[in-house]
Amino acid sequence: MRRIGILTSGGDCQGLNAAIRGVAKGLYEEIGNDIEIFGIHNGYAGLIHGDYRKMNKSDFSGILTVGGTILGTSRQPFKMMRVKEDENSIDKVQAMKEHYKKMGLDCLVILGGNGTHKTANLLSEEGLNVVTMPKTIDNDVWGTEMTFGFQSAVDIATQVIDCIHTTATSHGRIFIVEVMGHKVGWLNLYAGIAGGADIILLPEIPYDLNEVAKVIDKRESEGKRFSILAVAEGAISKEEAQMKKRDFKAQRAQMPYPSISYKIAKELEDKTGHEIRVTVPGHFQRGGSPCAYDRVLCTRFGAAAARLIKNGQYGFMVALQNEKIVPVPLSEVAGKLKRVPADSDIIEAAKEIGISFGD
Ligand code: F6P
Repeated sequence: MRRIGILTSGGDCQGLNAAIRGVAKGLYEEIGNDIEIFGIHNGYAGLIHGDYRKMNKSDFSGILTVGGTILGTSRQPFKMMRVKEDENSIDKVQAMKEHYKKMGLDCLVILGGNGTHKTANLLSEEGLNVVTMPKTIDNDVWGTEMTFGFQSAVDIATQVIDCIHTTATSHGRIFIVEVMGHKVGWLNLYAGIAGGADIILLPEIPYDLNEVAKVIDKRESEGKRFSILAVAEGAISKEEAQMKKRDFKAQRAQMPYPSISYKIAKELEDKTGHEIRVTVPGHFQRGGSPCAYDRVLCTRFGAAAARLIKNGQYGFMVALQNEKIVPVPLSEVAGKLKRVPADSDIIEAAKEIGISFGD
């Protein structure tokens, strides 16, 4: 009997259930009924506290299109993994190892993003058999061209920009749509291009608001009555990019606006004399059913993860590289962030058709 645990960790996204289904169906097909699958609740928290349930084959049916995660999730910061909850307790890594042993697991399947992968690698280094799948709407996991959840979120953010377009053209207004992504701008970049944004501000390309104002003025002088800005949550100005990280964080913490878009809107209003509206779709971008692309990707990732487990190949993340699903060692993935290269093809193409990055 092989015993497999599955957990979903970090911010949720579309496709988590599709990926859970993919790996479970793959395991039943590859190994047969000689397996027991345990669903660990709420991410690493469930493994730390021994909160899990035995799953049945039927639990994995009918969930391909369902949003969220049937297992629940939570954020468990990597830096807290060695911290004890109280004097008498063991640290979280020890607790996870003990529950893994107590459950009699042969392998742990972990679905998560960047932070999750640091802990997954640590558990692997500590001797647990781990296989992971890369999830996140941010598409910032190193080692894979695509994470699941990303394309679904791009579709939603694009729809928001599409809808804003119709009201912006009707009123002749300037709009900011704030797209998720604190550290990286893939989601904003793709949605901005797909939605036909005029200006795209990313964390990777610090902006100069005078440049942004010039673009708006130029559009106006060409008779365009509206402008659309796609602004990533983590967009930063050129001045901020020069600051020490600590000072920057302190300044942002004191910012009298709910998010960067409102600050940009106020400053641009002062510069251009136009009224500027802000739309923040927020967690909407992580919700609902996975798009067709993500359903296929999750199924491929799931099948590949099951194959690794069947062959006893542990310590890997399944990844998309050059159209193929390949195993990438966790030690190569952990601690790295896949940011948008400022000189990438996609940025170049966007610039060639006149999209401004405010730089
Ligand atoms: O990592 C996914 C993500 O949705 C980011 O795009 C966003 O910045 C962050 O999570 C929001 O985190 P939370 O759900 O904890 O508010």
